Formats: sequence, structure tokens, C-alpha cells
Amino acid sequence: MFAARQSFGVFQKRAFSASARQASKVTVLGAAGGIGQPLSLLMKLNPRVSQLALYDIRGGPGVAADLSHINTNSTVTGYEPTASGLKEALTDAEIVLIPAGVPRKPGMTRDDLFNTNASIVRDLAKAAADASPNAKILVISNPVNSTVPIVAEVFKSKGVYNPKRLFGVTTLDVVRASRFISQVKKTDPANEEVPVVGGHSGVTIVPLLSQSNHADIEGETRDALVNRIQFGGDEVVKAKDGAGSATLSMAFAGARFAESLLKAAQGVKGVIEPTFVDSPLYKDQGVEFFASRVELGPEGVKEILPVGQVNAYEEKLLEACLGDLKKNIKKGVDFVAQNP
Ligand code: NAD
Ligand code: LMR
Repeated sequence: MFAARQSFGVFQKRAFSASARQASKVTVLGAAGGIGQPLSLLMKLNPRVSQLALYDIRGGPGVAADLSHINTNSTVTGYEPTASGLKEALTDAEIVLIPAGVPRKPGMTRDDLFNTNASIVRDLAKAAADASPNAKILVISNPVNSTVPIVAEVFKSKGVYNPKRLFGVTTLDVVRASRFISQVKKTDPANEEVPVVGGHSGVTIVPLLSQSNHADIEGETRDALVNRIQFGGDEVVKAKDGAGSATLSMAFAGARFAESLLKAAQGVKGVIEPTFVDSPLYKDQGVEFFASRVELGPEGVKEILPVGQVNAYEEKLLEACLGDLKKNIKKGVDFVAQNP
């Protein structure tokens, strides 16, 4: 169960496990950024990674030189936007993590980032479709509800789309849910698992407290907790006061998700992570992508698990989620159609 992986101590222990195989190239696009740097550090500490390729429009080689002195076995190479830099960074990658793009400032929604980040993600997706069409693509850049469909459309246009290998990283939402519920209940977050489904912005983030250890949370306590999980990102944006959004907790969450994919690729069974994927769950309502718990396997998605039983309160949250999600997904799809 993923609750146990939510403790950094456990993550570290696994990260240094001697039994892990070292045979995977991981590429980070946007590696010199606020998320990119700590995420690359955590990937350098992961013994399942044999090669780490770090690309950014500026600063990739510097971050790579720094990390390359850490005494773990993986090689680290930095790339810049030279004629072949991005292509070389991507070639033979098993996992491509994309935290490239601008973060929010106070007062902005994630959707306000669309105008800048849509074209960044589209262009990186084009490069990935050409140089690493079989890689698992992990999209962190916001707005995730729209950037994941953008990657899908680009891969489709190049005839290499495989829905089993495209993931919107929503791990931070379950990391937060686990921590926040543990603060309310004064418990150890390592024992708290709260499924969070839907998407990754505001009301599209739907925590299912009825499926947690504390289905009894009701009234104002429940409302405040749900609101904190849905708007946890805003808390960090406000506290950073113009200097960006969550970077360190996001790097932790991204590294956890990448580790889960690497583990599943290397034969570990029963690996389950919540993630935003091309999903059958609400397709009949016109919602093509949806985050839910997903069992991972060597191909990427092994099985998309159902949302399960929800109560009347959560049913309402889901209704609000689906309306917004549909619009966000369409925005990404339309962007690629109009700006191929
Ligand atoms: P940042 O500005 O610190 O870093 C972004 C990096 O991307 C910079 O180093 C920049 O040079 C690089 N970049 C820009 N255009 C690029 C391109 N075309 N190719 C390669 N690199 C490029 O921002 P950050 O705090 O690291 O956040 C990055 C993104 O992640 C934002 O969009 C943010 O909203 C998002 N985010 C998502 C989650 C999530 O849960 N999915 C959580 C936190 C942040
Ligand atoms: C988050 O949830 O922290 C990220 O999506 C960044 C943001 O803009 O809030």
C-alpha cells in the first residue's frame, strides 16, 4: 500500500536498497528549476537509475556537474538547447520527468499558467515523441489537467501515442492528504492513506475521506480538511510570496512516483499509485483523463482501479470536478489542434 511510502525514512531506505537493479535512464526536462534540482538529486540517490540526463534551457550542465560528484553509481550528464542537446538527453530514456515551465505567483490559478506552459510542454513532447517514443512520460508542469492532454495529442499526431505510458503526476495531492489528515487526527502519516481522484487543481482535486481510516470525519472538520487538500498548493504559493510554488515536496512526490514506475518495470508486483491518466472511468461523460489509483507494471499502466464507493458528499465533489476537468482537458486538446 502506498501509505508506507509516504514516510521519507522509508523512501530513503528503499532508495539505498542494495537489491535494486541499476539499468534505467531517467531524463529530467527543466532540471535546473525549483523542482528540477531536488528531483534530480533524489534520482541521483536512486540505485535503480543508471543514467541521469538533465536538460534545461539554462543551467543543465551546471546542475549535472554538481550532482555527478555524489558517490552513487549512476552517470549524470547535462544538456542545453544546442542543435542536438534535447535529442541526446531524451534518447534511450525509460522515464522522462517534465517539471519545465513557470510556477504560480499569489493570486494566480494554475490555469493562468496555460499560455506560457502549453507551448513549452508541446515542444518538449514533440522532441520526446521523436527521440524517446517508448519512454514513460511524467508530466509535472501545470496546469496538469491540460498539459497531459497536450502531450497525448502531440504523441497521437506523430503516431506514437501509448496511453499506458503517459502520466500526470498527482502524487503531491495524496502526500498532502496523508499529512493533513494525520495532523487532524494526531496520527502517524505513514499509516494514513487517503485516495485522491479527479485532476490537479482546486475543485478537480477530490479527496475520498470515506475510504480513509477516518470515514467518521464530518461537518466543519471535514470541510476544512477537504478544502486544505484541494487548495494546499495555494498555501505554499502564498507563503513563498512571489518566489514560486511547491518545489521540495513536489520533488519528493515526483521521486516517489518515478521510483514506483521503476520498481514496477523491474518486476515488483502490486505497485499502486494515484495518477492522472487516459482513463475509461468517466469517458461516457466526455472526460478522457482522470486521476485514480493505478496499478503499475512493466508497460506503465497495468490496471486503472475504480473510484470505489463514495458517499453523497463526495458524489457532489465529483460532480464539480468532472465539469471543470472536461473544460481543462478540452483546452489542451484544442491548443494542439490550433497550434500544432
Ligand atoms: P521554476 O521556474 O523554478 O523551474 C522551471 C524550470 O523550467 C526552469 O529552470 C526553466 O529554465 C525551465 N524551462 C523553461 N522552459 C523550458 C523549456 N522549454 N525546456 C526545458 N526547460 C525549460 O519552476 P518550478 O517551481 O520548478 O515549477 C515547474 C512547474 O511545475 C510549474 O509549472 C509548476 O506549476 C509545476 N508544479 C506542479 C506540481 C504538481 O503537483 N504537478 C507541483 C508543483 C509545481
Ligand atoms: C501544487 O499543488 O503545489 C502545484 O500544483 C503548484 C501550484 O501551483 O500550486
